[in-house]
Amino acid sequence: MDWDYIDIQAKQWVNEAGEKIRSSFDKTLNIQTKSNPNDLVTNIDKEIEQFFIKKIRETFPTHRILGEEGFGDEITNLDGVVWIVDPIDGTMNFIHQQRNFAISLGVYENGIGRIGIIYDVAHKELYHAIKGKGAYMNDTKLPPLEKTTLQESILAINATWVMENHRIDHNLMIPLVREARGTRSYGTAALEMVFVATGRVNAYISMRLAPWDYAAGAVIVEELGGIVTNLRGKNLDFLSKDSLLVANPGLHQTILTDYLKEGNW
Ligand code: IPD
Ligand code: CA
Ligand code: CA
Repeated sequence: MDWDYIDIQAKQWVNEAGEKIRSSFDKTLNIQTKSNPNDLVTNIDKEIEQFFIKKIRETFPTHRILGEEGFGDEITNLDGVVWIVDPIDGTMNFIHQQRNFAISLGVYENGIGRIGIIYDVAHKELYHAIKGKGAYMNDTKLPPLEKTTLQESILAINATWVMENHRIDHNLMIPLVREARGTRSYGTAALEMVFVATGRVNAYISMRLAPWDYAAGAVIVEELGGIVTNLRGKNLDFLSKDSLLVANPGLHQTILTDYLKEGNW
């Protein structure tokens, strides 16, 4: 498989899609809700997913596509080459802020992440990695992740998980938040993963994310020596929803064994 060629094509489409999204900023959005009143989708999310699907099908007809908005294929296994597409990660930010959202494209072969591309559209920052060939932000090669202690780390976590909620025992999260140097929440899993990759934050924790939220980020973070698992420390399967713990290696271990091991995630 010519991953370099696939990567060049994908980056070109991502840049084109980014241009389309930026030029939508002064137009009226058609906003709908999905599973709940805060689960939003716009006409642009749908148009961008359809744009990628058209390009992928024209150029790589044997590849399959798992897309958040459902315009791709029915995917029940990761045999062959599968593109995992989130046309806009952080739709709420896209609608409310016109920044802090990203396009996320992961290309997997038989379940192994080969290419990860995440485009911060508003800031024109393109993060990408080809497995075994390094990770980049625009044209700058990113250095491997350095170990940090929790006390010198910034933790990306949504406040929802530190207050009483029906998914997790929030009491286990409180010491983590108390011990960390600081916490941040950006509302976009894809960018929060690349912020781990660049060291802007040192760990990211979330519940019930979908494969399109983390497929691209996993390739980028792992290329830099970071660890990507669910909160039980197990590998993600990229077919079902799961919790997520992304961090540099030492910190990942500390969070799992010293803070989360009692959890029933
Ligand atoms: C969402 C964002 C958000 C995360 C949600 C995701 P979407 O993706 O990544 O940060 O907390 O769980 O659903 O819906 O904007 O693509
Ligand atoms: Ca998403
Ligand atoms: Ca989305």
